Amino acid sequence: MNAAPANGAQWVVLKFGGTSVSTRPRWDKIAAIAKAKRAQGKHVLIVVSALSGTTDKLKAICDGHADAGKCRAVADEIIARHRAMFVELELKDAGGLDTWLARLERLLADPRRTDGALTWQAEVLALGEMMSSTLGAAYLTASGVATRWLDSREHLLSEALPNQSAWGSYLSAQVPTARDEALITKLPTLGEIFITQGFMARNAAGETVILGRGGSDTSASYFGALLDAEIVEIWTDVAGMFSANPRSVPNARLLSKLDYEEAQEIATTGAKVLHPRCINPVREAGVPLAIKDTNYPEFAGTEICAAVADALPSVKAISSRSGITLISMESIGMWQQVGFLADVFEIFKRHGLSIDLVSTAETNVTVSLDPTENLVNTDVLSALCTDLAGICRVKVIAPCAAITLVGRGMRSMLHKFSTILAEFGSLRVHLISQSSNNLNLTFVVDESAASDLVPQLHDLLIKAEAMRVEDSAVFGPSWVDLYKKKLVQDAPWWRARRDELLKLARQATPHYVYDLATVRAQAQALRGTIKAVDRWFYAIKANSHPAILREIVARGFGLECVSPGEIAHVREIFGDAVDILYTPNFCPRADYAAGIAAGARVTVDNLHPLEHWGELFAGREIELRLDLDFARGHHDKVKTGGAASKFGLSLNELDEFLRLARQHDVRVVGLHAHLGSGILDAKHWKEVCAQQASIAEKIGTVRSLNVGGGYGVPARADEAPLDLAAVAAGLAEVKAAYPQFELWSEPGRFLVADAGVLLARVTQLKRKGEFRYVGVDAGMHTLIRPALYEAYHEIVNLSRIDEPADELVQVVGPICESGDVLGNHRRLAAPQEGDVILIAQAGAYGAVMSSDYNLRGRATETVL
Ligand code: LLP
Repeated sequence: MNAAPANGAQWVVLKFGGTSVSTRPRWDKIAAIAKAKRAQGKHVLIVVSALSGTTDKLKAICDGHADAGKCRAVADEIIARHRAMFVELELKDAGGLDTWLARLERLLADPRRTDGALTWQAEVLALGEMMSSTLGAAYLTASGVATRWLDSREHLLSEALPNQSAWGSYLSAQVPTARDEALITKLPTLGEIFITQGFMARNAAGETVILGRGGSDTSASYFGALLDAEIVEIWTDVAGMFSANPRSVPNARLLSKLDYEEAQEIATTGAKVLHPRCINPVREAGVPLAIKDTNYPEFAGTEICAAVADALPSVKAISSRSGITLISMESIGMWQQVGFLADVFEIFKRHGLSIDLVSTAETNVTVSLDPTENLVNTDVLSALCTDLAGICRVKVIAPCAAITLVGRGMRSMLHKFSTILAEFGSLRVHLISQSSNNLNLTFVVDESAASDLVPQLHDLLIKAEAMRVEDSAVFGPSWVDLYKKKLVQDAPWWRARRDELLKLARQATPHYVYDLATVRAQAQALRGTIKAVDRWFYAIKANSHPAILREIVARGFGLECVSPGEIAHVREIFGDAVDILYTPNFCPRADYAAGIAAGARVTVDNLHPLEHWGELFAGREIELRLDLDFARGHHDKVKTGGAASKFGLSLNELDEFLRLARQHDVRVVGLHAHLGSGILDAKHWKEVCAQQASIAEKIGTVRSLNVGGGYGVPARADEAPLDLAAVAAGLAEVKAAYPQFELWSEPGRFLVADAGVLLARVTQLKRKGEFRYVGVDAGMHTLIRPALYEAYHEIVNLSRIDEPADELVQVVGPICESGDVLGNHRRLAAPQEGDVILIAQAGAYGAVMSSDYNLRGRATETVL
C-alpha cells in the first residue's frame, strides 16, 4: 500500500467540484494548490466536475431528447457559458473547446437522440467534464502550471453487476479498482501534473458510461485506488464533515478524523458533503481521503482513514433525514408464521424498493423507505400496499424523519444516553433501530418534530460526554469559530474604522458607536429592491437616536411610534414635517388621545377601545392590527402572532370590531400585521400580505395594507442573509393580484442593526473550573439581547484584532445576575485588563433597551 512510483514520488488526487471550477479566481486557487503539492515533490492528478449548472442542462437535453427545439435552446446556453468562460480565462487557442462543442452539435444531430438511447445520453452527459477539464488544462498551463489532459475513460473500466438494469449500467455504473502498476509507471514519463474528468468511465464495449450521483467524488476515489495514492483530497466549499449539519447547529464541531465506516455511515445518514459511494474504493485500497475547503486551504479539514484500534467510543455525529416513509405490516396469519418476512420482502423487491430500517415483532414488521434511495411516490406506495394487503394489514406512516447518532461502539455508550432518551420521551417515536455493525442508533419520529430536536440533542450529547468533543484528535473547532473569519472578511465597517473606535473607547466605555453610511445603505437596499411597497415607516423603537432618525427620514421614510414618548421625541426633532404611524398596545385611553392630538395615524388592535372609548375615535379613520394566527422570528419572545401573543385582533373578533366601528362612525382604512422580528424567511411578507388582501376586500373601506417589519439580518456566520429580491417578488405578486391596495411596511432592525457596535473595556479575568471569564464594563444593563433572547452578537478583542482569536472565554458584565453574559464560549485574542472589546450588530434594540439596573448608568452614544 502507498508504494512509491518508479521515480519515488507519491501521487495525490485532488478533486474539485462545479463551483470550484466555474470562475477564474477559483482556477487560480486550484493552480496554487497544485503548485504547493508539486513543491512537496508529489505527482498530482486533478479530477474535475463540470462548470456548475452544466450537468443539469445536459440532463435537460437527455430528458427532453424528443423535442429538438428545446435541445437546441439548452445547447446554445451551454455553448455560450463555455465560450464566456474561455474569454474569462483569457485563453488563446480555442481548439480544444471547439472539439467538444462540435461533439455536442453532432450529438444533437445524432439519430439516437430521437429515442433518447442510453449510449447517447451517457455521451451527452460526459461533455460537461470534457469541457471543464479541457479549459482547465489550458488555463493551468498558461498560468505556469504545466498540466496534461487525460481522458479518464481510458483508465476507468466499468463492470456489469448482477441484476443491473440497462439504465444502471450506462448511467449509474461502478468500476472495480486495484493498484494499476502500468499507469503508475507510465504517467510520470508524461508529466507531473494531470487533469481528468470525474463522473465517467468506459464499459467493456468501449462505450462511455456515467457513474451516477456524486460521480466525480467517486472518480477521484477510483483514481486514488488505481494510483495507490498517498491521499485523495475532495476540495469543496465547506471545511469537512461536521458533528451535525452546521446550518441548523452552528456549534457543530468539525470532525478532524473519521474512520472509513463512520464516514460512510455519516454520509449515508444525511451529510451531503461526500457521496457515500466514494468511500468504499479508497477503503479497500487503504488510501486516506480528505475533505478540504477551496476558499480556506489553511483549514485542516476532515481526514478519513482506517480505524484506530484503541479509539474510545464516542458519538461522532447526529444527523437527520426527512421524507422517510414507514410501512407497518401486521400479520393476519399465525403467530410467528414461517416465511412471513420472506413474503413481505419479496413484495418490496418486486416493486424495486430498497428497505432501510427494519423492526420486527412476533406479528408485526415495520420498515422504512428512504427517499434518496427509492422513488417513493403515491403511485408506487399504493401499488405496494395493494400487493401487501394480500398477506397482512398495512399502515403507511409519513412523513417521518430519521434521527441518527453515528459513532463506533454505540452499544457501549447506552448508559450515556439517558438525557437523549428523555428528550424523545415527549415525542411519538415510531421506530428505534440499532445497526448491526454497532455504528448507528436511529430514532424515527414525525417529520415536524425533527428540526428543533437536532440542535438540542447535539448539546445534550456534549453535556453527557457521549460526544467527546474535548478529544482534539477527533473533534476540531465549531463551525461558527471556524468561519467567524469569514464574517470579518465580509468587511464590516468597524474593521476599517478601528483606530477611531479605539480613540472613542478611550473617551468612554461602555460606548455605542453608529455608522450612518450603513444606515443609508440598508435603507436604500430596502427601498431600491422592494418596489411593491408604496410607503415606508421606520420603527423608531429599534434605535431612536436623532441623527439616525434624520438620516432615515431624509431617505423618504415616515416614522412608526408606539408611545406618547416616542411621538413627542419625533415631534421635537422634526415638528410636523414627518408622517407618524402610531401602534400602541394595551395602552391607556390617554395614549390614544395623545396620538390623535399629535395628528398620527392611529392603529387599534383590540375591541376594548371601541367598546369603551368609542367617542374618542368617532368620525375618524383608523388602522386595524390583525393577528393572522401565525408568527415568525429569531426567538419565541419576539413572535407576535397566535393566541399566546398579546398583539393584534383575533380574526374571529373581526365582525364584532367592524360592527363597533360602524356604530361609532369609525372607518377602517388600513390593515396592519406585524408577526415577529428577525425573520430571514423571504416568503413571510407575501403570506402576510395575501391574507390581508383577501380580508381587506371583504371589509370594503380599506385602502392600505401594512405588512409590518421583521426583516432580519444574519447574526451568525452560517445564516444566509434575507433574500430581498425574493421578498420583492412575493409582494409584487400580491400587488399584481390586488392593485387597489397601497402596501406599507415598517422595518426597524434591518436599517440599524449592523450600523451599531458596543465598545466595552475588559475589567477582570477569572478562571473557574473549565471556564475562563472575561469581565467587561458593559452588561445586561447595556445590551440585554443575549440575556433576554439568547441573541448572538459577534464579539472581538478590538485591541488585538490581528492576533489569533484562540482563547475560549465567557464574556460577562458587572451586573449581579448569573444571566449577565454577553457571549458564551467565544474565541477571543488573549484578553488583558484594559483591552477594548467590540460587540457587533448592536445598533438595533441595544441602547434603547438599556436600563439603570444596579445603578450602573447608561452607555455613551456617538454617531460617526
Ligand atoms: N412594527 C411593529 C408593530 C413592531 O412591534 C416592531 C417591533 C416593528 C415594526 C419592527 O420590527 P423589526 O423590523 O425591528 O424586526 N427587542 C427585540 C425585537 C422586538 C421587536 C419589537 N417590535 C430584539 O432585540 O430582537
